[in-house]
Amino acid sequence: MNLQRFASSRRIFSSTVHKLDKGASISSSPSESLFGTCSSPAINLNHNKYNNLNRHRRHYTTHSQLPEEHQMIHDMCRKFADEELAPNAGKWDKEHLFPKDAVSQLAELGLMGLNVSSEHGGSELDALAYAIAMEEISRGCASVGVIMSAHNSLYLYPIDEFGTEEQKKEFITPYATCINEGDDSSGVGMNIGCFGLSEPGNGSDAGAATTTATPSDDGSEWIINGTKAWITNAYESSAAIVFATTDKSKKNKGISAFIVPMNSPGFSLGAKEDKLGIRASSTANLIMDSVRIPITNLLGKEGEGFKIAMKTLDGGRIGVAGQALGIASASIDCAVHYALERKAFGKPIADLQSIQNKISSMVLARDSARLLTWRAATMKDEGSKFTREAAMAKLAASEAATMCAHQAIQVLAGMGYVTEMPAERHYRDARITEIYEGTSEIQHLVIASDVLKEYRG
Ligand code: CAA
Repeated sequence: MNLQRFASSRRIFSSTVHKLDKGASISSSPSESLFGTCSSPAINLNHNKYNNLNRHRRHYTTHSQLPEEHQMIHDMCRKFADEELAPNAGKWDKEHLFPKDAVSQLAELGLMGLNVSSEHGGSELDALAYAIAMEEISRGCASVGVIMSAHNSLYLYPIDEFGTEEQKKEFITPYATCINEGDDSSGVGMNIGCFGLSEPGNGSDAGAATTTATPSDDGSEWIINGTKAWITNAYESSAAIVFATTDKSKKNKGISAFIVPMNSPGFSLGAKEDKLGIRASSTANLIMDSVRIPITNLLGKEGEGFKIAMKTLDGGRIGVAGQALGIASASIDCAVHYALERKAFGKPIADLQSIQNKISSMVLARDSARLLTWRAATMKDEGSKFTREAAMAKLAASEAATMCAHQAIQVLAGMGYVTEMPAERHYRDARITEIYEGTSEIQHLVIASDVLKEYRG
């Protein structure tokens, strides 16, 4: 579906179309970017293909400085979040309901294949666009944010970066659009992917994987045994990136990555976790009991799995930072609107200095973290090493999210503690951003070891 046709059928696109009409040309082919092709190099933002064009890009500090395409993405995602996500997020959270229609709409908007090349059905946008979209979508609903981020940065990215052309055709193209035309093992009627790294016995120590992959006697298949834990999108996914050891004696150098179709015999799911937050997304164990996959489903080379996982998480942490910024922004919105309305001591509480101090601390933390997030994303787009910067962005943004959500409740006081207002949901949703895709303690470790390496030379 192209943007023009889609736009005419969807109200939320009116402003985007208006801007596109003025500037960019619009793709008429379903395989082209939803945001259109353009003669200006700035609109073609794929970091691999157009790396040379992006090498000298500037680092942006404000929304108004962003290139027009990024402003469009921001505006489109904000409108979608305001109209379709925020009004429903409380209900989805309460009922633990996977927001199927919203995720289908995300796919139609091109947000479920955001960084994938147009050749494979994606929107071919860059990491900065991804960070911006993640913030705005998560501002509307943090659960939808994590569904989007696990699919884009943890499932699609490693295949896009390390996969063969055959793997991309089979495991990216139908997933970048989420279109499912055949057997759907997940039952949600769309193609979603997940990432299996952590195990019940190891989370932070990713190199200690005990899941095994052994070649079959005739060499045509890999046989996978083991359990992966805390997997986002487990219940809706139909394929998983699974890290398993092919040679335990080599420790992390013996880990390899595999693409595992989840309808394979021997593959099952654990019970859905009953979580504190992001309750509209599913989290469960992936259980593999002699699961046989084609030998060609090895992703990258044998023994490269640990580095594939680390590189994937570098980019994933930009996504989580974006999600955390969205939660921080939603908390700020909630606190400021309430402070302007609520009267105490004969005036709006926004006039009280103690409330103003909270508002200022919240905005300061959110905006500082956003600068770090945009820096990490821009460095990724330039092709620079960005491991430290992604860890800094994730650490700062997740701490900003929990602080802002905490202070929002304090501003709302009793109203912040009841489910009538979204502040308590933001507080619950924020907490996971300090845990998944590497805890804050792991981010400190990544940052410090990079700094020490620099000083040691
Ligand atoms: N990019 C490329 N290579 C990297 C790398 C990176 N970011 N980080 C490490 N490596 C390489 C190192 O250079 C080293 O290579 P050599 O052996 O060739 O020198 C190798 O990997 C081993 O590196 P380390 O010695 O630093 O590895 P370590 O065992 O000490 O672990 C760690 C490092 C940072 C603690 C890592 O284990 C880690 O990031 N842990 C956290 C895991 C994590 O984030 N899990 C979340 C799972 S996803 C999730 O949350 C689920 C979900 O669905 C949302």
